[in-house]
Amino acid sequence: MGWKEELSSFTQNRKNPSKLRFDEPLDKHNFFGIGGNAEAYFEVSTIDELAYVTRLQKRRNVPIAIIGRGSNLLVSDAGYPGIVLRLVGEFNRLEFNESCVKVGAGVSLPRLSKIAASHGLSGVEFALGIPGSVGGALIMNAGAWGSSFGDLVERVQVMTDEGELLDLSRDDAQFSYRHSGLKPYFCVTGATLILTPGNAEEVDNLMQDLYNQKITSQPFAEENAGCMFKNPPGHSAGKLIDECGLKGYRIGGAEVSKIHGNFVLNLDSATAHDVLSLVQHIQNHVKQERDVDLEMEVQLLGF
Ligand code: EPU
Repeated sequence: MGWKEELSSFTQNRKNPSKLRFDEPLDKHNFFGIGGNAEAYFEVSTIDELAYVTRLQKRRNVPIAIIGRGSNLLVSDAGYPGIVLRLVGEFNRLEFNESCVKVGAGVSLPRLSKIAASHGLSGVEFALGIPGSVGGALIMNAGAWGSSFGDLVERVQVMTDEGELLDLSRDDAQFSYRHSGLKPYFCVTGATLILTPGNAEEVDNLMQDLYNQKITSQPFAEENAGCMFKNPPGHSAGKLIDECGLKGYRIGGAEVSKIHGNFVLNLDSATAHDVLSLVQHIQNHVKQERDVDLEMEVQLLGF
């Protein structure tokens, strides 16, 4: 029996069979709307299922990638030669205990922001406009308006390649600008956050203000994966790209946003190849004209 048959029979024997599909188009699972098919796509609902998949990876030597909500992702035109996982079910749990929140890695940041605001808890207002998952936000230390997700973290739960669960401290997670030490683990499963008690109306107002600032300074109507590059120390990538006259520059169906230089848009059935050609063009220009290296923030899958 191959790994596909094994995975199929595993899911069919579950009480609540999770969603498993083969040859699944990945363009509908990421905000860029780009990418070929995954050999398998599996929505994992429980820790047990996740541990099973880690063991399958080891035993069968099959590549596995976890895509979060696909908001910071560029998937290859050739797709992914393995299993793509999405965390659902018990990974979508949110549990409030005074100012402490236990949150599953599958929860979306907008949902977390709104529910925290309704509890009058401050700290996560910046995240309403970030469409990613808590797991992705932890790994990337997502942030906006001077706040970063890692600042809120007390503990982070991860699963190792052996299927073992570890409970890490914030120091263990090693957060820095758009980076953490969590990537080498098989999967981030959840976190405990410490928020600050406040007034529900004030928290909601701040959250809405930050969201309005985002939608007036960044594109939101067209498909994109958020900021394409990290800000180099002492610079704004968007400003550098703007100053190099690259806004509106287009390769194939991919275009540099005319609103904010650090966003690449999928305007007309762009391929991953179009996007990467545009990325390279931007990197070359900014290096030539400003002597600054731009490093991609968007994560690559299947390259
Ligand atoms: N600017 C330009 N032209 C542009 C874009 C920006 O002149 O095309 C100027 C702005 O006017 C401003 C400065 O550059 O004076 C900085 O721009 P902005 O406030 O938009 O911030 P940013 O550094 O470009 C960062 C994060 C965003 C986050 C915003 C708001 C990174 C790579 N980007 O952008 O995060 O939403 O601050 O806090 O850290 C993301 O990580 O995906 C992301 C979008």
